Amino acid sequence: MHETSLVKAKVFLDVYGEEFAQSEIVRVLEIGSKSYDAQDTYKPLFPAPRFSYIGLDIEPGNNVDIVPSNTFIWPEIADSSFDICISASTFEHNPFFWVTFAEIARVTKPGGLALIIAPGAGHVHRYPVDCWRFYPDSWGALCALTGMELVECYFETDKIAVANPENFWRDSAVVARKPKLSGPELDAFHGRLQKIVSLFAGENPPSQIAPERHGKWVEAYERFMQKKYPMTFSRMLHKAIRKPAKIYRRA
Ligand SMILES: C[S@@+](CC[C@H](N)C(=O)[O-])C[C@H]1O[C@@H](n2cnc3c(N)ncnc32)[C@H](O)[C@@H]1O
Repeated sequence: MHETSLVKAKVFLDVYGEEFAQSEIVRVLEIGSKSYDAQDTYKPLFPAPRFSYIGLDIEPGNNVDIVPSNTFIWPEIADSSFDICISASTFEHNPFFWVTFAEIARVTKPGGLALIIAPGAGHVHRYPVDCWRFYPDSWGALCALTGMELVECYFETDKIAVANPENFWRDSAVVARKPKLSGPELDAFHGRLQKIVSLFAGENPPSQIAPERHGKWVEAYERFMQKKYPMTFSRMLHKAIRKPAKIYRRA
């Protein structure tokens, strides 16, 4: 996990944690929780018995408690069951992230919070695919779709990025709240979410996405660009000089 993802979650807990002071146990769901190469995870931020932490991922592995039977909708998880839903560096890998956001809205308790962090830039990196990048208004769009309340959203500013060693990702993030509804209003909220995810609950949900494919248009475009902007010695030098300092690049 990126160091800055950990910082964002720690600060989130410092700032919003007191909202859950009355809860005996704070139930937390992390979406895309798998830890690769023994990397740090969010789990230690949510120790028992104060918290009950569950990690969900589409692949089994370290720090994964639930692999849902359906990648995009989670029949295993009841409505309104988590105080906090949290996710980092995962939405960009999710071909249909709005469906997952709708599921997050469903499983969050009324009044509960979601913190979603995803990059707004950066190189292609597949887990197992790499589909999207996010901007501040991405979150407003997702909230408008699902009925979640946008509490705050973020796109890493130039000022922070200059000093951040992980600046090539230009993370974007949202804190969203499930409205404090009950009775028929809550049913209507869930009914709307059901409509959003309905295509994925059917018999033939979208599944495989076509792999990256270059054809005659890409080849012709690259030939054109290489001819127009050949990699001359002076261009290579210019590029080398403009390279960010090593500290700004991924280890
Ligand atoms: C780049 S890893 C990030 C893991 C961890 N959150 C971190 O920050 O180190 C992305 C994770 O998202 C998971 N993932 C991809 N699509 C997903 C989906 N639709 N639902 C849940 N997890 C998904 C991948 O299996 C992978 O474990």
